[in-house]
Amino acid sequence: MKIKILTLFPNMLEGILKESILKRAIEKGVCSVELIDMRQYSLDKHHHVDDTPYGGGAGMVLACDVVDRAITAHRTAQSFKILMTPQGRPFQQTIAKELASKEELILICGHYEGFDERIRSYVDDEISIGDYVLTGGELAAAVICDSVIRLLDNAIRKESSEDDSFSDGLLEYPQYTRPVEYKGCTVPEVLLNGNHKLIREFRLKESLRKTILRRPDLLKNRNLTKEEERLLSMLQAELAADKNNA
Ligand code: ADE
Repeated sequence: MKIKILTLFPNMLEGILKESILKRAIEKGVCSVELIDMRQYSLDKHHHVDDTPYGGGAGMVLACDVVDRAITAHRTAQSFKILMTPQGRPFQQTIAKELASKEELILICGHYEGFDERIRSYVDDEISIGDYVLTGGELAAAVICDSVIRLLDNAIRKESSEDDSFSDGLLEYPQYTRPVEYKGCTVPEVLLNGNHKLIREFRLKESLRKTILRRPDLLKNRNLTKEEERLLSMLQAELAADKNNA
């Protein structure tokens, strides 16, 4: 996969590509990430990329011609072009999976107080990473890069991403490593005995517990399996008993 990021601040993104899993994925050739400074597409001798808004008002607006030239110079027939904006569709693991199947992504980072509305017509999608306003799209692009690249074949072990929170619609079960006892807190016995059937059931039940306690909204639209239904009623009974004993 190729990812091209159109930005006014390439330095903001350089660091994340040089560390850890993204660095290794790029080195292994799982994907390439190109940072493109949109300023080079300004025709202005001072390389201005923004201007005052028509109709007045505070702040500067990112100009459509600069973004258009940058996109035109870098798009291919395979490019899926995404604008980072708080007005976009809310980013989720399902969208990360959708994007991981594309051959090429172009992520366009707006900056300053806003961008010319016409830029919307140059892209295939608009994505928001949450209901808050960032100073620009760079951090949002970083989030998308990170979550998409780790899903690509050979970026990390397949089982690791299959166990992720959200990957099957539930939060991930709790994990433990050595030591078996630390400051009086011990690892659940079932994880130590090597009984894979019991371990699988424990993990599913704890996944359900986390989800029902922290994100009950995720369970609302889920088609529960018979096993999940059984574990969920056990959990509900346990949680009700805990409440009564409290
Ligand atoms: N640009 C500014 N805020 C943003 C957000 N929440 N998501 C995506 N892009 C943004």
